[in-house]
Amino acid sequence: QRHLLGIEPLSPQEIVTILDLADRYVDLNRRTVKQSDALAGLTQINMFFENSTRTQASFELAGKRLGADVMNMAVAQSSVKKGETLIDTALTLNAMHPDLLVVRHQNSGAVNLLASKVNCAVLNAGDGRHEHPTQALLDALTIRRAKGRIQRLTIAICGDVAHSRVARSNLILLGKMENRLRLVGPPTLMPAGFAELGAEVYDDMREGLEGADVVMMLRLQKERMDGGFIPSEREYYHRYGLDAEKLAVAKPDAIVMHPGPMNRGVEIDGEIADDINRSVIQEQVEMGVAVRMACMDLLARNLRAERGRAAVEGTY
Ligand code: CP
Repeated sequence: QRHLLGIEPLSPQEIVTILDLADRYVDLNRRTVKQSDALAGLTQINMFFENSTRTQASFELAGKRLGADVMNMAVAQSSVKKGETLIDTALTLNAMHPDLLVVRHQNSGAVNLLASKVNCAVLNAGDGRHEHPTQALLDALTIRRAKGRIQRLTIAICGDVAHSRVARSNLILLGKMENRLRLVGPPTLMPAGFAELGAEVYDDMREGLEGADVVMMLRLQKERMDGGFIPSEREYYHRYGLDAEKLAVAKPDAIVMHPGPMNRGVEIDGEIADDINRSVIQEQVEMGVAVRMACMDLLARNLRAERGRAAVEGTY
């Protein structure tokens, strides 16, 4: 494939290939190690139109570990602030001949649109409520390392499903790998279409977490609730916040996940988030660098092969 725009087009085998390569980039201390110059001679531009800590930093580290020239476009200081459109911005950067463009945008579909206008490989770093493919891949790698497999697990995805691109990408990926999926949250934050992706839907945390192998909490995304119903934090925590009592109904060895950033005391109790016997939240961050290395490594191989063929045909 030329781009990584979502999990939807990936086959289970392609997902496993990415996870296997990412695993090879991780050492025994869960640190990512530089093992290749896969991106040497290539230019990577990171364009983040929405705030990010983990995704932007890990894409930058991943590119540098593989030898790319990495440029972070400072959107706040760019001509976007003078009214330049996303497409004109992309065409301007495309004229500088990047090889990899990493894009986060607040509008669903913006990254797909941009990919249709440029000559390089585009990686979706999260677009609106649509997809966050590298998050789902790093979550899958974290689960596989903790559970020894990424199939036949009962996985509860809990909280603000309606506004979550993380939930959507995870549902698609974990569904392709034949897991039992549950969505748990208030009906006001549960879109009807998500159940069609093959998940059971619960509005009671204790029922939804019963016997789960994996408990994946989601952030309450107030910035996407544009005028809609916003639950009170206190009430939300009481009913849907993950605390020791609610977690007790999951399997005794169930792992706790959260993509971050976390609202402690809103969707998760701080002590559970920090409990190294249950929480794999820090490992999710660690796997983020390795997964992004693997994704860019594989796309760069495709790009070089495509250019090689074009050079033989005299079109590159
Ligand atoms: N999980 C995630 O996408 O985090 P950031 O917004 O910090 O990148």
